[in-house]
Amino acid sequence: MIFNINGNEVNILIGDNILNKFDQEKKYFIIYQDSLSNELNKIVSNLKYYDIYKAPDGERAKDINVVLDIIKKMVKKGYTRKDAIISLGGGTISDLAGFVASIYMRGIDLINIPTTLLSMVDASIGGKNGVNFEGIKNVIGTFYQPKIIINDISFLRTLPKEEVLNGMGEVIKYSVTMDKNLYNYLIDNKDNILNLNKESLIFIIESSIKDKMKIVINDEKETNGLRTVLNFGHTIGHAIESGSEFKIKHGFAVSYGMICETQIGINERIINEDVYYAIKNVVDLYKIKIDLNNININKALESLGKDKKRLNNRKIMIPLPVRIGEFEIFMLDLDIIEKGFIRCLN
Ligand SMILES: NC(=O)c1ccc[n+]([C@@H]2O[C@H](COP(=O)([O-])OP(=O)(O)OC[C@H]3O[C@@H](n4cnc5c(N)ncnc54)[C@H](O)[C@@H]3O)[C@@H](O)[C@H]2O)c1
Repeated sequence: MIFNINGNEVNILIGDNILNKFDQEKKYFIIYQDSLSNELNKIVSNLKYYDIYKAPDGERAKDINVVLDIIKKMVKKGYTRKDAIISLGGGTISDLAGFVASIYMRGIDLINIPTTLLSMVDASIGGKNGVNFEGIKNVIGTFYQPKIIINDISFLRTLPKEEVLNGMGEVIKYSVTMDKNLYNYLIDNKDNILNLNKESLIFIIESSIKDKMKIVINDEKETNGLRTVLNFGHTIGHAIESGSEFKIKHGFAVSYGMICETQIGINERIINEDVYYAIKNVVDLYKIKIDLNNININKALESLGKDKKRLNNRKIMIPLPVRIGEFEIFMLDLDIIEKGFIRCLN
């Protein structure tokens, strides 16, 4: 699939064992995660010139000192704008590598090879990147589109089940806000999806990518409000992540966030109950559960107050599905969201 985002072409490939499409004349700086050490060979066996860099696991990769260390090594090895960076790993690696690619010599080609379901359906696409600083997530970052994204589902076979469910949270989000066909597929094919059936994985990944890209093409840099739909469930989701000191994973927090935000919509009489039951039904079907005891409510409320989608003082932009597969964006008072959140936790 080729998408054109404001003049930048993004080529997205999906398949099983498809890692053989590299320009042999380029030099590649590969940034990878330790968990992918065994898989690295699949990539380098297809390359003539390359260097490798093992990034720390998880959020520790998204650190400005790691960025500087990579740049130091690239300068030493003589990388120029004719070369490229490859990211091999989950969303933390595509966020890190994307940021480096966007600033190295004012921009060097980026190839994303996502290896978690979350990064295939979300983090590796759309051009947002970033690292954390002073305890604030993604506070340093840019918008920079990768040239190529290679979704090789063979990576998903080593992924722990919890990480698969983590990615499913975002797939469910696309389905309920934008894609009724995907929603019906999720309901009818749970076992195939969770057993990592090839056709099912390709179907849900391809649908999610098309859904996200439809939005990104029309609002690449969050300037006209459309991209807000990608944040359905995230206002409360981020508060849950933060209130649990990130013990609760993003996709799980967002799934619970979608349920709570929908409940708030019902209380405000802006959406009807059918949507709530449809969302709860699919989240329960996949057994995406969180432990509410892990959440410090005060910390969660503090994070809610800092929500980046706040427009002026006490209003927050909340996208909600008005029917399965269709969304609208509403402006809600922070007080209403806070009260709804507390009600939802009880
Ligand atoms: N830029 C964006 O638009 C965007 C969107 C969503 C999320 N994100 C970011 O993505 C990050 C989360 O991504 P993630 O959930 O992929 O986390 P992650 O990169 O930490 O990966 C999760 C875990 O899975 C392991 N792993 C990766 N691939 C594996 C494989 N094939 N087999 C076995 N283990 C494997 C990793 O080593 C890690 O321990 C967050 O930092 C978030 O902010 C960015």
